[in-house]
Amino acid sequence: MSSLQPISLIESLSAQHDRLSAIGQQHLLTFANQLPVSKAGELLDQLAALDVQNLPKLIETYVRNKPASAAGTVIEPLNAYGLDNSVGGMPWNRDQYERRGIELIAAGKVAAFTVAGGQGSRLGFEGPKGCYPAGAVSRQPLFACLADWIKAAQARYAKPGVTIPWFIMTSPLNHDTTERFFIEHNYFGLNKADVTFFRQGVMPSFDMETGKILLAQQHEVALNPDGHGGSLKALHSSGAIAEMRKRGIEQICYCQIDNPLVRVIDPVFLGLHVAAPDSSGEMSSKMVRKASAGEKVGVLRKVDGKTAVVEYSDMPPDLTTAKLASGGLKFDAGSIAVHIISVAFVERLNSSAAGFSLPYHRAEKKVAHIDLHTGHLVEHKHNNAVKLETFVFDALPLCKSSIVMETDRVEEFAPIKNASGPGVSDSPETCTQLQTLRAARWLAAAGITVPHHADGVPNCTLELTPHTAIYAKHLADPASKAILPESIEPGASRVF
Ligand code: UTP
Repeated sequence: MSSLQPISLIESLSAQHDRLSAIGQQHLLTFANQLPVSKAGELLDQLAALDVQNLPKLIETYVRNKPASAAGTVIEPLNAYGLDNSVGGMPWNRDQYERRGIELIAAGKVAAFTVAGGQGSRLGFEGPKGCYPAGAVSRQPLFACLADWIKAAQARYAKPGVTIPWFIMTSPLNHDTTERFFIEHNYFGLNKADVTFFRQGVMPSFDMETGKILLAQQHEVALNPDGHGGSLKALHSSGAIAEMRKRGIEQICYCQIDNPLVRVIDPVFLGLHVAAPDSSGEMSSKMVRKASAGEKVGVLRKVDGKTAVVEYSDMPPDLTTAKLASGGLKFDAGSIAVHIISVAFVERLNSSAAGFSLPYHRAEKKVAHIDLHTGHLVEHKHNNAVKLETFVFDALPLCKSSIVMETDRVEEFAPIKNASGPGVSDSPETCTQLQTLRAARWLAAAGITVPHHADGVPNCTLELTPHTAIYAKHLADPASKAILPESIEPGASRVF
């Protein structure tokens, strides 16, 4: 293709040169004059989307410097709605809140929302993480596991004709592949009209030393998705919130794509979120007790009276290890990235004329990029770049009053983050173990004999679908009982 460029293109390149020179990023045009017209056009489109007004400040604050995390003055543990049905020493009525949650689902006021725009770099899986085969026995993909939860909640709780729409946030980097995967799999049995995809925003990746924006190709800026916090903006800018309003949706059940055990629609949690006396019904969270002080999960706590999450890496070491008189960890509320967010809260956040923005977090990563001297792609063995992301939990302190519900990690938390390996946590292998463990626990409680090894680990591989039981008590339903055996043979692989 010719690299001769029409006058209008030359003018646009010159205008971009002036714009980028003003912020010291004109190197992004290094190859522009040698590009075919179509590629130069693509580059210009990307450059036009760069927020040149705010970039210099972001680069100075987060790339050239490492900002200290905002500590807050008074940091205290919080009172969660506990597994023991008490909160702050007072009882709470699980059944009452479950009934309230079911009313909301039945009336069509609830949507599922999954953030699936991440790059899944730790797992190293080619393609969107939702396509990863995660079912302990079925090996069905993560998207199918979550679709099962939605279909099961719809069948169990919704009135005839009422559906639970599913909103899925992708990134511009995985949007088309994700949509194609759903088409190929016939939307996993959901109505196409009930599944909405929308793209999150992106941020450029920066050279760690110089703060210069990297080029992924000669005609392409290196971009990364702007973090799961980008969902709170993208829900609004994409029109998803307007679509929810049209459907009469009031509450959004937020989850990540990487956890096949996540109870996507949880009536008890919904009921607490809308009706607990100390909940403003804007954004609520689920927690598990941390397994150890060093476990790498965000920690929920009160900062200056507001519920907030701090990343494990930002938690001061003395607080991470602080103990109660009883010997337990003082700050043991591990966030499992499950929230309920009201449509009204997302609207409020996006209502300011000045726009709204969550704080950025800096992540040091390996990013391949074009060498400006040779024009060739350079790979890195060590972190060479900074990515900036926002985190959804940073919206918690913006609530008037935000509650937390405790759950048991075996019940609901089996994320796939890392590739399997000896001693590696949050891997496909640990995910299969946890799916089996939860199923074994529920089946045993329902009177079914489950074989175990001498060390107590189940001697079988089990997958219990939400169609059979959303809560353990559902195994007593006649329809569930009818499909369950009296015992499971040692070494078996079974899906129920
Ligand atoms: P993670 O923090 O685990 O990131 O995302 P990741 O991108 O999936 O994986 P790594 O860190 O590269 O290994 C938690 C959840 O947030 C979503 C992910 O898809 C996952 O469901 N996410 C993350 C987004 O939707 N957008 C983002 O920009 C980042």
